[in-house]
Amino acid sequence: MNRAKLLGVGLWITCLITAVSVESQINIVRPHYTNPASAQALYQNHCASCHGQDMKGEIRAQNVLPRALPDLTLISHRNSGTFPSLHVYEAIAGREHAIVGQDRTDMPGWSVVFHQMYMGDEGKERQAIYNLVTLIESKQMRN
Ligand code: HEC
Repeated sequence: MNRAKLLGVGLWITCLITAVSVESQINIVRPHYTNPASAQALYQNHCASCHGQDMKGEIRAQNVLPRALPDLTLISHRNSGTFPSLHVYEAIAGREHAIVGQDRTDMPGWSVVFHQMYMGDEGKERQAIYNLVTLIESKQMRN
């Protein structure tokens, strides 16, 4: 193996170790059942660890995530004063990013998680995401 190849393999291993250690720091756990009607409980159990109690971004999560956590209270502000409900819904579900122009990779896709949690009941899955959208909309600081 020549030096360039060795260096390549070394870099790859370093990346792998970094990925594994970031994952263990974030501490991925099985989601525990949360009533889809309770937006507060959903947020508390599944979102606050990264986005913080105040939706502005939890500093400890920020330290291990490779990307800046968006301030969820300023979504309307970043979107010329209107709350983009459908985009926020899709961002939570994991299908697209709320604010066009950013690629998304760091947030878990919640439709998959909720699908498992509600044992395939799509009504509950949609209710949970919709209630989270409404909660986030109610916390918008300025337009
Ligand atoms: C593991 C940390 C983590 C958890 C847990 C998490 N998020 Fe996120 N979230 C992120 C990151 C990082 C981004 C930035 C976009 C990206 O890189 O995917 C983001 C982006 C978002 C966005 C898009 C905001 C914007 O302005 O573009 C919304 C909305 C959102 N999260 C809501 C939620 C909700 C609701 C939950 C709980 C069901 C949740 N997040 C749980 C890390 C997390």
